[in-house]
Amino acid sequence: MNSSAMNGAHILSTGSAVPSICISNEYLSNTISTSDEWISTRTGIKERRLLPKDKSIIDLATEASLSALQKGLIKAENLDLIILATSSQNDLFGSASQLQASLGAKHAVAFDITAACSGFLIGLITASQFIRTGAYKNILVVGADILSRWVNWTDRRTCILFGDAAGAVILQYNQTNDLLNFQLDSNGNDFHQLSIPYTQTQIHKNTVESLYTYPQGGKYNYLTMNGKEVYKFAVSQVPISIEECLKKAELSTDDISWLVLHQANQRILEAVANKLDIPMTKVISNIKYYGNTSAASIPLALDEAFNSGYICNGDIIVIAGFGAGLTWGTTIIKWHAIH
Ligand code: UT7
Repeated sequence: MNSSAMNGAHILSTGSAVPSICISNEYLSNTISTSDEWISTRTGIKERRLLPKDKSIIDLATEASLSALQKGLIKAENLDLIILATSSQNDLFGSASQLQASLGAKHAVAFDITAACSGFLIGLITASQFIRTGAYKNILVVGADILSRWVNWTDRRTCILFGDAAGAVILQYNQTNDLLNFQLDSNGNDFHQLSIPYTQTQIHKNTVESLYTYPQGGKYNYLTMNGKEVYKFAVSQVPISIEECLKKAELSTDDISWLVLHQANQRILEAVANKLDIPMTKVISNIKYYGNTSAASIPLALDEAFNSGYICNGDIIVIAGFGAGLTWGTTIIKWHAIH
């Protein structure tokens, strides 16, 4: 289909939710061998939120979604599609349909996207394709993760980094298209640099059947990460992705009003901005308060930026995500407020 003949995709509203339990660096330094000084200077993180054990990812995703629906003045029953980007779903078959039920979005089809910290970005781009072809008009895209349940709380290299949150965006059909372009990449050769690996139960019986019968079970291990390699990957690939996306949209770094990066490390935000010669005054950062919230980090940062009134009509927002897979990518939005 000719791009100019396609429908436009427009961000109608955003929402987010964070749990009330707040864990400071000082608290962690009483439980593991770390310090506020180390965490603050190496990552920019001061505190993170944790979901209480009687709550599920669906509770968090529902709260963020209801906020976006309310701000967009749209009813859940008018949604055509729900995409839940998460890597901490409560069912291996996916959790999006539980979110659909929780919202009462009875006309929506729902599915999950599992792409860790790039999940929301990939979900947003996927949603825009359904809108641009005319298949759907109102889509809810949610990024939600509760990695606090997947980190080893005695491993100081990883547990200090992550927090729980959810963020949501309503993407709607419009005559003008505000998602100007996108760039997505994967490198599965380096998947082991950041992973929650699955281990199968050992088969002890030395029989022919044991060679082909399905293993009895297994378990997921804790999140593992080679921090240095992931850092190098982010700082080298994200600027290239942003530049390629800007080129496709016939824009330059000077046109950027706001840079919204996945909030993994303040030093990564600064290194990427520095490589692209973008002043830090244009870089949205809330990592200090939430740590790395995986798929939720971009929609949470976006929602806070919209709520604080920084973003004005006509602003160019460059959004870039990166993480496990490895996956990374960029999209560019021209912001038009409708309400
Ligand atoms: O969302 C997915 C994307 N994830 C990321 O982008 C994460 C990218 N990586 C990073 O942000 C950084 O690599 C980290 C923050 C994870 C680590 O920072 P680093 O500057 O690369 O530190 P390092 O791993 O090289 O560790 C330096 C030292 C080590 O001690 P030795 O071997 O030099 O004696 C670590 O054992 O710091 C030690 N260390 C700590 N010390 C106090 C590691 N974690 C801690 C800690 N507290 N929490």
